[in-house]
Amino acid sequence: MSETAKFILGNETYEFPVIVGTENEKGIDISTLRGSSGYVTYDVGYKNTGATQSAITYISGEEGILRYRGYNIEEIANKASFLEVAYLLLEGELPSKEELAKFENEITHHTLVNEKFKFVFDAFPNGAHPMGQLMTMLSMFSAYYPEALNPHRSEEDRRLTIVRLLAKMPTLVAMIMKFKQGHPIVYPNNKLGYVENFLAMTFGHVTEEYVVDPVFVSAMNKLLILHADHEQNCSASTVRLVGSSHANLYASVSAGVAALWGPLHGGANQKVLEMLEAIKEDGGDTQKWLNKAKDKNDPFRLMGFGHRVYKNFDPRAKIIKKSADEILDKMGIDDPILDIAKQLEQAALSDPYFIERKLFPNVDFYSGIIYRALGFPVEMFTVLFALGRLPGWMAQWKELRAEGQPIGRPRQIYTGAAERPFVEIDKR
Ligand code: CMC
Repeated sequence: MSETAKFILGNETYEFPVIVGTENEKGIDISTLRGSSGYVTYDVGYKNTGATQSAITYISGEEGILRYRGYNIEEIANKASFLEVAYLLLEGELPSKEELAKFENEITHHTLVNEKFKFVFDAFPNGAHPMGQLMTMLSMFSAYYPEALNPHRSEEDRRLTIVRLLAKMPTLVAMIMKFKQGHPIVYPNNKLGYVENFLAMTFGHVTEEYVVDPVFVSAMNKLLILHADHEQNCSASTVRLVGSSHANLYASVSAGVAALWGPLHGGANQKVLEMLEAIKEDGGDTQKWLNKAKDKNDPFRLMGFGHRVYKNFDPRAKIIKKSADEILDKMGIDDPILDIAKQLEQAALSDPYFIERKLFPNVDFYSGIIYRALGFPVEMFTVLFALGRLPGWMAQWKELRAEGQPIGRPRQIYTGAAERPFVEIDKR
């Protein structure tokens, strides 16, 4: 017989089924709780709430495991291409050689972004943050592809919307970088692969042919894969919540970008580099900054440390740290920021405050060092996270739509004023 959970409230006992995931993850299905008892559960920050069942990504916080559709991140980051991973997340299986070629070909032929987007860039003041620009541009796609406004039109329409967005995102991100630099945009080159094309549009110039460096391609490919999905995190949950109202994919992903922007989520990669720079400027005393992070009267947190789920290590951080060493070495860069990061990590990992709270470096701790070595300005870092996360957001949205899940609508415990009479003020 399958397991059940019993809740005792006063004299009543309520029984709820236990649902078990592939990896023996267990949850109590309390979907009938309110109807039968009038009670709701209370869980600020959803620390214990499973908002959905999902077949996309598996994470074990205790064991430091991350798997996309059953494949370990260590293997996939070293062996796959980003588009292969995107296909895997979206379709559920790795593509065959023919399927991958067809997918790559289709993506390659949707890369152009409408010329009118340039006028919108002109409307932004100098110094506008790239994440704000990305949100604006993504929601603008809904105006250019109005058939996407109704996510129920057809399966083929949904697929085409996903292909379009995956194809246009690198062009958009490259445009953001070019406008930031005040340089003319470089158009996509359909002869290049996804990552090569992105690098050519970002670092190439209209006046000369860009020679793609395989070291850059391999580093970028790995970073994108490591960010591709992370189950029900803040931005993925946002995409699902927005999508649950039957909002179109462009609007849902734009909302995901908004959620990612915050410094506790994807925005941490920018903050990590700013923090490391500040420590360097301050003389490199890592212990002083560690003490600040431990001081409860100081709002400062060690950026790039801690994770809601990972409580032993973040497998993505392990891979990225190794990559940062390799890439800087291959490029012949001796970045003092990397030394400061390593010192800070060492000091934190042997400090009781961080040990007791199970705080470890997360994916954002070392990623910025690689982005910087590749030549990206710090304000572009979170946009690069979004570029990597896009297939994951779309896979979450697709799963939600395919299952016809209900609109997301949490309850609350009201703590405001009780009913009181309205007293008119004398307006004369
Ligand atoms: N520096 C100092 N103390 C910390 C930190 C930190 N980075 N992170 C958590 N703590 C402390 C926190 O003060 C609390 O202490 P106490 O129990 O004494 O009150 C305890 O550790 C638990 O923290 P929490 O805020 O309850 O944990 P959470 O699960 O709600 O937050 C987190 C997770 C990632 C938001 C948080 O660790 C944090 O703010 N980290 C810095 C920002 C960061 O690097 N974010 C990127 C996350 S990974 C990329 C992604 O997928 O988004």
